[in-house]
Amino acid sequence: MQDHTRIRDLPALVGQTATIRGWVMTTRSSGKIGFVVLRDGTGYLQVVASKADLPEPAWEAVRSLTQETSVSVTGTVRADARSPGGVELSMASIEVIGPSVDFPITPKEHGTTYLFEHRHLWLRSRRQVAIMRIRHEVEQGIRDFFYTNGFACVDSPILTAAIGESAGGGLFETEYFDLGKAYLAQTGQLYVEAAAAALGKVYCFGPTFRAEKSKTRRHLAEFWMVEPEVAWYDSNDNMRLQESFVAYLVERCLERRQEELKELERDTKPLENVRPPFPRISYTDAIAKLQSLGNPIQWGQDLGGDEETILASQFDRPVFVFNYPREVKAFYMKRNPADPRTVLNNDCLAPEGFGEIIGGSQREDDYDLLKQRIEEEKLPLDSYGWYLDLRKYGTFVHSGFGLGLERTVGWICGTPHVREAIAFPRQMHRLRP
Ligand code: 4AD
Ligand code: MG
Repeated sequence: MQDHTRIRDLPALVGQTATIRGWVMTTRSSGKIGFVVLRDGTGYLQVVASKADLPEPAWEAVRSLTQETSVSVTGTVRADARSPGGVELSMASIEVIGPSVDFPITPKEHGTTYLFEHRHLWLRSRRQVAIMRIRHEVEQGIRDFFYTNGFACVDSPILTAAIGESAGGGLFETEYFDLGKAYLAQTGQLYVEAAAAALGKVYCFGPTFRAEKSKTRRHLAEFWMVEPEVAWYDSNDNMRLQESFVAYLVERCLERRQEELKELERDTKPLENVRPPFPRISYTDAIAKLQSLGNPIQWGQDLGGDEETILASQFDRPVFVFNYPREVKAFYMKRNPADPRTVLNNDCLAPEGFGEIIGGSQREDDYDLLKQRIEEEKLPLDSYGWYLDLRKYGTFVHSGFGLGLERTVGWICGTPHVREAIAFPRQMHRLRP
């Protein structure tokens, strides 16, 4: 299997002979010339087969190729300005490796349900490949950004005792040996708070789980979240970190993934605006703004998807909404000393209707206030003992945030629904494939 070339490496081999292994996307042929488009994951290649130059069995093989047949093709690499990558291959021989009869996904339109039932095959299509490549770029960007900025990666557990964003309907549970129930992590935050007291600047990055019965285009039951946590950062420092991080990820995709963005027909103009500083608006001002635009929302209510879209459309780049009422936010957020009805937090809303991509806050560092909030929320105090310890032994100002990977990738790709931004989405009604 050594002796073959990936499509992306072909341009350096013009004039030479190369072997490509891949899958057939489309074929067309006149009586004498056949065109086969191949893909191998690294790119797309037009192969030209000429009846006159091929032995009869090879020509017959070309004529009977079907969509998604896997093949090995050997030929001469030729420069061709109109081809993707600037080259095509003149076929000298072909070997059919695995036939493919009646591939379920054809170039015609399929319904979304059908496509997701065939997600394992749908992933091979150009659009899905482009989205996965951009996701891959964003993941690598996340790692590089934090590594370069002196953050240590600390992986948080997925199996936890009852601890997380909230109790109630949002937890997936499973039996855990003799210890009763374990819950799939809704967040790694509480653990990276402990790690921040050990290492200063840390992050975790992994799958998180929410059992909420939401069927919106922004919710998955399993999604990936990156959660930095920084000792001695207040809420303002936290927002500054967020804007430089988000701008870095977007710029990186613009620099390295133009081809994929083009494949997705993404208008990149709005992405080019994503530069710090991001506008900031307090929750209280946001409510006034929404009311002035005719929205019936009242102070004290959480912003829903519609409100987020209206607010974000007032700006040409992501916007921070800060200091929400404490009733609508998680128990661990620090009470705002200037207005105790609110907490020192922020959401970051992406433009173009994509809504919240980040939730972050300064954390409550006062032992008594935190304990009081845990009790108010009727959370199991025994599970939170270790978390309270962080305020008992050398408490410290600290802040952090969580950026949702699928929402961010969905926004960068311009895909309206987060389920396309992950290879195998988990939703209320979807556990297969
Ligand atoms: O706002 P959330 O719930 O915040 C936290 O979990 C904090 N513990 C983060 C922290 O401060 N360390 O979630 C953070 C982000 C959201 O802004 C959104 O991008 C994403 O995670 N998210 C979801 N993405 C897809 N499906 C869901 N059900 C999501 N819930 C949250
Ligand atoms: Mg949130």
